[in-house]
Amino acid sequence: MSNIVPVNLGERAYEVRIGSGLIENAGAAILPMLRRKKLAVVTDQTVGALHLERLRAGLAAVGIEISYLALPAGEGTKSWPYLTQTVEWLLEQKVERKDVVVAFGGGVIGDLVGFAAAVLRRGVRFVQIPTSLLAQVDSSVGGKTGINTAQGKNLVGAFHQPSLVLADIGVLETLKPRDFLAGYGEVVKYGLLGDPLFFEWLEAEGPAMARGDRAARLKAVTRSVEMKAGIVERDETEEGERALLNLGHTFCHALESATGYSDRLLHGEGVAIGCALAFELSQRMGLCAQEAPSRVRAHLNAMGMKTDLADIPGDLPDAAALLALMGQDKKVVDGRLRFILARGIGEAFVADDVPPALVLSVLEDALARR
Ligand code: GLY
Repeated sequence: MSNIVPVNLGERAYEVRIGSGLIENAGAAILPMLRRKKLAVVTDQTVGALHLERLRAGLAAVGIEISYLALPAGEGTKSWPYLTQTVEWLLEQKVERKDVVVAFGGGVIGDLVGFAAAVLRRGVRFVQIPTSLLAQVDSSVGGKTGINTAQGKNLVGAFHQPSLVLADIGVLETLKPRDFLAGYGEVVKYGLLGDPLFFEWLEAEGPAMARGDRAARLKAVTRSVEMKAGIVERDETEEGERALLNLGHTFCHALESATGYSDRLLHGEGVAIGCALAFELSQRMGLCAQEAPSRVRAHLNAMGMKTDLADIPGDLPDAAALLALMGQDKKVVDGRLRFILARGIGEAFVADDVPPALVLSVLEDALARR
């Protein structure tokens, strides 16, 4: 049971394989890419403890030997010190220009190792084996790599496309429900931004998917990756359409910053709340019907997800402070706030002319609901 989604980027084209048993069979998938049967694998300690032995055995089955580095799990790893450690470790492993590096983990490992691969010997190939739902449907596909700095998230990085992505949906079974649902925030985003039928399908099948239905998971991850691949093919370096993938993210980044990028709000949870707020803003601007934001919230509620600022524990700053945090988002162009708005479910577009007063009123009302 597996699907293949091609990402057609000319000489940087690659496949995303989605299915069960891909980790056990990684050797057969990766072997044709190798000039010598050696691989450097970078993972985190949590994923390593759960899944590395299966990957090692799957690679050894075709004679591929690995060396591995297991970094601490968590966002703090996506930083200069661990980039240095990763690059130096890869050099110690004598990784050459024609070798392949494997990123085995969630979004943090994928972004960090992708960036390390981009700068190592001016660019070596890498394979993404994403182990979180968020990484499978979003960060492992499309070639955005990088680290966070004291000045903000993802401010240092490079576009560096992987050479293969193996999204094994079996590993999703080891995720905590909260992490699974956070990743689901990005799945819903695809329906909301460009595929109303997919959103309708998620309304019907999302709960079964969350309970573990593999066929539903396969379909949801595949459709999400298809949509992402299509957008990346048309706009690899985010000159235009790719910005649609940031639906909900301007609100999300302000909320993540206000909660200190902590356990109070996971990125995917912020995306879900941000999508609901983006639809509310769109409705207030007269762009979409009253029903649209209610329908978004109803689905997130039915999934048992965070839907509003009221669901974020602890104190939040006032609306003006949240708005100021949005101004620090890297999606600010010429000092103007860029939002992804929607004319309806599945009809998102980029807007550069959103009146700050209206954003403020959406935030004030959301804070009043707390
Ligand atoms: N995660 C947004 C993008 O890949 O463009």
